[in-house]
Amino acid sequence: MSHVAAIINQKGGTGKTTTAINLGAGIAYHGFRTLLVDLDPQAHTTIGIGIDPDSYAESLADVISTPKKALADVVVETYIPRLHLAPSHIKLARSAEQAYTRVFREAILANALKEVDYDYVIIDCPPSLGVLTTNSLYACNFIIIPCQISRYSLDGLADLLTTIETVKDLSPQELFEGDLFRILLTMYDRRNRVTNEYILEQLKPYRDKTFATLIMKNEALNQAQIAQRSIFDFDPKSTGAYDYQQLTVEFLEICQKRNSLPEKRPSSLSCL
Ligand SMILES: Nc1ncnc2c1ncn2[C@@H]1O[C@H](COP(=O)(O)OP(=O)(O)OP(=O)(O)O)[C@@H](O)[C@H]1O
Ligand SMILES: [Mg+2]
Repeated sequence: MSHVAAIINQKGGTGKTTTAINLGAGIAYHGFRTLLVDLDPQAHTTIGIGIDPDSYAESLADVISTPKKALADVVVETYIPRLHLAPSHIKLARSAEQAYTRVFREAILANALKEVDYDYVIIDCPPSLGVLTTNSLYACNFIIIPCQISRYSLDGLADLLTTIETVKDLSPQELFEGDLFRILLTMYDRRNRVTNEYILEQLKPYRDKTFATLIMKNEALNQAQIAQRSIFDFDPKSTGAYDYQQLTVEFLEICQKRNSLPEKRPSSLSCL
């Protein structure tokens, strides 16, 4: 079974897409067959990995809508060997709206993923807790929560954890005792000492649930997105490339450890 990681935060601009692209690229460069799923109608992952969302007739929008397309039929290759992409399109917003009326609407992506075979699947989510994000939660077996280091970075974390518990049918204690999620601190700026200390203090209860890797604020990451290349291709000597390489290694280690753990399947989705 694939490792399926959803990158989630309902807050905008926390580094979800940057992490999806560079972790996806990092895993592929480590030799694994990897699928990037761009579940955000903004299509920033699609564009960021060098693909024009209008260049293909079909996209994830056609997988989420009815009559549905098979996921394998919309997947495209990227310029990185072993890294494939399920591209997004603005039409995905309409598909998501239509999905609200469907039975088992939160299982559409999980069912679609059963048809493909990858070592790792990385899902970039939109900044909301709507039907697309619940689909990614239902489909995934690991969750990465990028949090930008700022005064308000942890606002909404409690809501997000409650949503995870509901979709995964876990009590708060089970969520904390299991190894289902990690917080990823992004855009860390050493100069903001007071803010950093404040956030790290707030994060103390989540210390075991936070990646050891810190993603520093690094302009090369911004520029790589504009150049539509991963940071490893755009500027392999940058701090951003170093940080995302560290994250890739830490993530792969966590997945390998978890391989030997029994998995709890969600049994009900009563609140959705
Ligand atoms: N570590 C970093 N250093 C500098 N800039 C960064 C860093 N991470 C992300 N950025 C930039 O910050 C902006 C927001 O990042 P990104 O698009 O990854 O966030 P997001 O969570 O996907 O946003 P959205 O919620 O809109 O989908 C982008 O312009 C990106 O290039
Ligand atoms: Mg994004």
